[in-house]
Amino acid sequence: MDKPVIAQPKPCLITLKAGRTYHWCSCGRSARQPYCDGSHAGTGFEPTRYVATQDGDEVLFCGCKHTKTPPFCDGAHTNLPGGSPLEDAFSEANRAVPLIADKAAGRTQLNGNCYVMSPEQAQWATRGPLRYCTVVNGELGALYQTQFLLETSGAMTEAVGFENRHVILFVAAGSGTVTISGRPFSVRATDGVYIRPHEAFALSADAGSSLRVYVLACPLAQIRWFAKMPDSFDGQFPQRVVSVDAAQRTGMGPRYFQILVDKKIGSTMITQFIGHIPKSKAAPHRHLYEEAIIVLSGEGCMWTEDRKANVRAGDVIFLPRKQIHSLQSTTDEGMDVVGVIYPGDNPSINYY
Ligand code: FES
Repeated sequence: MDKPVIAQPKPCLITLKAGRTYHWCSCGRSARQPYCDGSHAGTGFEPTRYVATQDGDEVLFCGCKHTKTPPFCDGAHTNLPGGSPLEDAFSEANRAVPLIADKAAGRTQLNGNCYVMSPEQAQWATRGPLRYCTVVNGELGALYQTQFLLETSGAMTEAVGFENRHVILFVAAGSGTVTISGRPFSVRATDGVYIRPHEAFALSADAGSSLRVYVLACPLAQIRWFAKMPDSFDGQFPQRVVSVDAAQRTGMGPRYFQILVDKKIGSTMITQFIGHIPKSKAAPHRHLYEEAIIVLSGEGCMWTEDRKANVRAGDVIFLPRKQIHSLQSTTDEGMDVVGVIYPGDNPSINYY
């Protein structure tokens, strides 16, 4: 059996009909992509039969035919010819796209509720040794994610929680301790931390250090303060901190990423990754997930249909699901980012 033909380098967006049977082309020779038209005869390939159970579900059927999860895209196309296209940021069409510089409360609005937030220009509140501001929430256009930025250089903060929500932290700077419902965990910059529903957490910075922590709750939630730390640590999930490990990287064309917090440690709802974007501009694409991206280093530009905004270290980009976009790195050393996606567990899955 030969290798399948790459019918197209990106997946097809399909809206499923409950009870309908789909015959997905696995050989890549069909003229009715992504469905079978019988062209596999004699090739050794057989179509994959899939019966939809939910009406209206939007899924991505693999177009490159190299997925390991047929009929669905698993991101394999990103490492195949044409699967991770770049484009010229200085083409005539791109030079005509206006740079939006206006900010309201630190936020630059792009198309379709996509925005770039510069937290240092946002409204901050204080609570004891803690400073915090909102970077993503429902009022700003999110359907699923609420995200805050917390800073402390003092002793332990009040306990913070979100009613019955999955919570993921990213330690952007400093070192210290995250105490989760009574259980302490040492953390340092670039660690991801997972907090179960019904748990709360508090932060304390090491002496001489200042902790800067992005806190994401999903689905949308209000922040809640506890006079006393609840004694509710879920011991079925003892591992809560994931650190950067170059051996765990996944290549994605010229980019790479490492999953930090995901289902491996119990986070079945949301997925956090850390990634690197070399100096380049990806061709415009979309995702089926809602995403919040924190820029850790470097500078660049976020592009949507007919707008673009500069981004730099410390900024947060909010990206609604299905929003066409492209993130460009303009720094010679490239740009490091951290992202959180929902729903979904694979940041390499994208479509046109
Ligand atoms: S299109 Fe084949 S894996 Fe994505």
